Amino acid sequence: MGNDSLTITDNRTGKTYELPLKHGNIRAMDLRQIKSDEKDFGVMSYDPAFLNTAACESRITYIDGDVGILRYRGYPIEQLAEKSTYLESAYLLLYGELPNPQQLSTFTARIAKHTFIHENMKKFMEGFRYDAHPMSMLVSSIAALSTFYPDAGNVADPEVRELMAIRLIAKMPTLAAYAYRHTNGLPFVYPDNELDYTANFMNMLWKMAEPKYQANPVLARALDILFILHADHEQNCSTSTMRVIGSAQADPFLSMAGAAASLSGPLHGGANEEVLRMIDEIGTTDHIPSFIESVKKGERKLMGFGHRIYKNYDPRAYMVKQTADSVFGVTGRNSKVDIAREIEKIALNDEYFVKRKLYPNVDFYSGIIYEAMGFRPEMFTVLFAIPRTAGWLSHWEEQCKDRDTKISRPRQVYLGPDQRDI
Ligand code: CMC
Repeated sequence: MGNDSLTITDNRTGKTYELPLKHGNIRAMDLRQIKSDEKDFGVMSYDPAFLNTAACESRITYIDGDVGILRYRGYPIEQLAEKSTYLESAYLLLYGELPNPQQLSTFTARIAKHTFIHENMKKFMEGFRYDAHPMSMLVSSIAALSTFYPDAGNVADPEVRELMAIRLIAKMPTLAAYAYRHTNGLPFVYPDNELDYTANFMNMLWKMAEPKYQANPVLARALDILFILHADHEQNCSTSTMRVIGSAQADPFLSMAGAAASLSGPLHGGANEEVLRMIDEIGTTDHIPSFIESVKKGERKLMGFGHRIYKNYDPRAYMVKQTADSVFGVTGRNSKVDIAREIEKIALNDEYFVKRKLYPNVDFYSGIIYEAMGFRPEMFTVLFAIPRTAGWLSHWEEQCKDRDTKISRPRQVYLGPDQRDI
């Protein structure tokens, strides 16, 4: 079989197997031929939390976590954040190339056309309690959208898939803003399709009695950059959820509600909310050392730190930190950034964090900026979910086209009782 293979010797039987390597990896199914005797099921790999299991081939996002590299379709995230808009990056993720001016204008117009949501969705939103968590409202309302688009279940049709993707990217800011206005007891504001994607979102959040909402351009651009930074991150927990639910051919609204539910968890996108709560609890810089000690004793986690893939500085965290200055120039400085910077300084010089390669991740500084813009912590994960929509849908589309796709169905190692009688 040549050099592109792996030779395995089963010490139970003395037999040798040669497994082919494709792109440097074995197919887990090739292990199945390794049996202790004829009745044996065959060897599986045991990998809780998929620490070392590739579930798909993908051409969307590349991360090198050891050096802190993130690229969408080959383009470094730093260049996209500097030179593109969120909608351009979303187009790139979905279609594989950056749009030319004509493609961008068609795409932007299609998104604008679908920003409105059915009037009944307002009643649905009104049904939530005054103190409902905005992320729970968002997850439920994404799922509820499925009821308005029964044709969304036709996932084998590429045109239907594309239309649903456009609808979801277009409607997410509207759902998010409605959840925000409900939480604040304010009337819902309809989309203004003369505004661009981010400015329209700000309009739906913050417009009051003025006839036309004017978004502050610095804040609109900062939000757009944050959207670009959050748009995709390859096979993370929520994207994998999207792929797993999608593999059963559920419609994209329902698959994405599942993905958003996964994002809400404090170990995933929900960490940005937890970071702010943690900083508030720490209160002043002189409390940081005792807080760090409790983290090192294993009593709690330093939220916004650590990552499954990054064993170096998360490149998104750098750019979030840079964006803070432009936002503070408009909103005034959020003094919590001083506590965050001091936590980072102490942690990056402490053996506990150094040894485990724990660095700030994207969630560490984002909440401080969102708070300066006027958001309460409950909204932070919603602000993550809006742009991640492009990533979820790009992976879903890729999976729908992938001939290797089958329904996701992991195996287990059964350790319960053997048959017994009552
Ligand atoms: N604070 C303190 N210790 C930590 C932390 C942390 N934030 N993260 C990991 N560790 C320790 C962990 O206890 C373990 O120590 P030991 O080897 O002594 O048992 C070691 O570092 C390895 O951690 P792990 O739990 O095996 O790492 P993981 O890859 O399973 O978890 C993580 C990754 C992101 C869930 C975890 O780092 C964490 O919980 N961080 C805090 C939550 C957070 O900020 N999440 C946002 C992630 S980035 C946004 C996104 O994409 O979702």
